[in-house]
Amino acid sequence: MTTTKDLDKQARDILKQNDRGGYTIPTKGLYPYQWNWDSAFAALGFAQFDIERAWQELETLFTAQWDDGMVPHIVFHQSDPGYFPGPDIWGGTGPVPSSGITQPPIAATMAHLIYQLDPQKGEPHMRALYPKLRAWHDWFMQWRLDQGAVYITHPWEAGRDNTPEWDAPMERIDPANVGEYERRDTQHVDGSMRPTKFDYDRYIWLVQMGKRLNWNQPQLRVENPFQVADPTMTFTLLRAQRDLLALGEALGLNINGLADDILRLESGAQSLWNPELQSFDARDVRTGEWANCVSNASFLCWYAGIDSPEQSAQLERVLSQVKYGVPSHDPASPKFDGRRYWRGPTWAIMNQLIGLGLEEMNHPLAEKLRATTRDLIAAHGFAEYFDPTDGSPAGGKAFTWTAAVWLSWANKAEGGNNGRD
Ligand code: GLC
Repeated sequence: MTTTKDLDKQARDILKQNDRGGYTIPTKGLYPYQWNWDSAFAALGFAQFDIERAWQELETLFTAQWDDGMVPHIVFHQSDPGYFPGPDIWGGTGPVPSSGITQPPIAATMAHLIYQLDPQKGEPHMRALYPKLRAWHDWFMQWRLDQGAVYITHPWEAGRDNTPEWDAPMERIDPANVGEYERRDTQHVDGSMRPTKFDYDRYIWLVQMGKRLNWNQPQLRVENPFQVADPTMTFTLLRAQRDLLALGEALGLNINGLADDILRLESGAQSLWNPELQSFDARDVRTGEWANCVSNASFLCWYAGIDSPEQSAQLERVLSQVKYGVPSHDPASPKFDGRRYWRGPTWAIMNQLIGLGLEEMNHPLAEKLRATTRDLIAAHGFAEYFDPTDGSPAGGKAFTWTAAVWLSWANKAEGGNNGRD
């Protein structure tokens, strides 16, 4: 029988095997570079047994920060022909080859948690990282707010590539001139678990447009047809700003403007409340239309410090429909697809963020969610994501962030040793 200790060791081994020297790849083959929010989860995983390595993960990510403050979603430290679209297609303009878009800003929150594990070792790292985190958050505040909510300019920015929330805005793109390209993702995992060609054509079309405009934010704001105010970005940035405020106060650093930013984002979060759906939802900035989706990002409200009895009722409802929640899309919706990426599967990382929020609010579902995630990983391994109906593993294997979630959260309360030897 596999014990909890065996799983701790397996999880640590996955982090070490995916370590490329200062940064961690999500998984071999499918994702061979450094991804932004994957690295933040990895850092918290490393922090359970090697705190200096944890800080290094975040520090390496920020070596790719652009002059305008943006921190890219992929950093191409060394080239790998097995991935598409690579650095040439993106034409990123930062100091290290990178993509031209960003990802959910969870790094400040993870840095805060790592700092709290060992404030003495963490302080010099935190002081050095703090202004860089502020510059990144300022970039969001300057370029990406709509009614105070954060909007994305590419489905990949939200980290939830093919969720049904983007279906309507993606429909409006005509990718006729996208040209020939060769997908690499479907050479690593089965196509039935990946986004469709309809989606992929538009992903690439949006990348081509961004490159043509040299990733210039004011121009993209005018030209880009895909602008969606998104619960992932809004809730994670709100939470991250709260973390920076707490850290800045504790360490005597510059907190100017943060309290105002938090107020703006709080009202932005409320602008994502869809009263008919009775849930937080994505909103198309171009048309004002709701996506009408209860997704796992809808449940990040507690993580952002916002309680909602209506959203609690939604959580109870979706959890009662599957064995292993939280499903990325409502199982009652006709668009639910239990194995296709962000259109149904359960993701351990989203569970961790939702769970942290629930725990902080002493929510009655907090322990259930953690225990479900622990059982899911214990029974089905460190997969990229899982079918919520039976827990079967899907996507890439030996996945960094699932291992990190195990070490830093899923296996915690049970007297687990948190990954330490
Ligand atoms: C996919 C996921 C995204 C993740 C990346 C690397 O694109 O949707 O959230 O960061 O893979 O794991």
